[in-house]
Amino acid sequence: MARKYVLIPAAGSGSRMGGELPKQYLPLLGKPLIHHTLSVFCAHPSIERVFVVIGPDDCHWQSDWPGEVLRCGGATRAASVLNGLLHMAASEDDWVLVHDAARPCMTRELLDRLLDALEDDPVGGLLAVPVADTLKREGGAGRIDRTEPRAGLWRAQTPQMFRYGLLRTALKAMGTELPTDEAQAVEFLGHAPRLVPGDDRNLKVTYPADLRMAELILKEIWKEIT
Ligand code: C5P
Repeated sequence: MARKYVLIPAAGSGSRMGGELPKQYLPLLGKPLIHHTLSVFCAHPSIERVFVVIGPDDCHWQSDWPGEVLRCGGATRAASVLNGLLHMAASEDDWVLVHDAARPCMTRELLDRLLDALEDDPVGGLLAVPVADTLKREGGAGRIDRTEPRAGLWRAQTPQMFRYGLLRTALKAMGTELPTDEAQAVEFLGHAPRLVPGDDRNLKVTYPADLRMAELILKEIWKEIT
């Protein structure tokens, strides 16, 4: 039976956040943000191991934190993921769930939804939400060139869940400069990953205001599950 592993790329500097401390380590409700991210995966009975990819010179990670750390982060997110795949031991058919360190509001319910939807899927897939806003293409100088049709458009979230062998091959084939998520590399090989409805609350902390939002969402989630 295929095992399920989680790989958390956490080697980004979080430059859009400003400040010295990378966003995955910022305090969020009394803990480093990444602890919230890790908790749902570490507690799930179907998840065999949880790997965290950090930069080789990271001086923030502490040895007693949950997860198995791999100090092999690269220059891009895709490079960090590929390096992580190459450093973890797995069989070709094992599942790997790649999840951004900066998405601390992932829930058990969403994780179960993804695992159930993809259990027998031939390709794999990801959590995603349909685009709700009207989309504008800028023509330059802050002015609109045209309106893009939003029908059929989704915003990709994580986790993104693919077989170990397929994902490694896809990231190697596409190169690690281009893909901004794992699905893009798998699409590059001609596959059609499955879109599994996610949740807006599974936000990626990118800008300072997102941190406050994550705090409110986590409080709401805790209220729901207690
Ligand atoms: O920068 P962004 O928010 O897109 O990063 C998404 C995730 O990828 C974060 O968890 C970040 O730490 C990680 N990352 C990485 N290696 C990089 C850049 C980003 O592991 N070189």
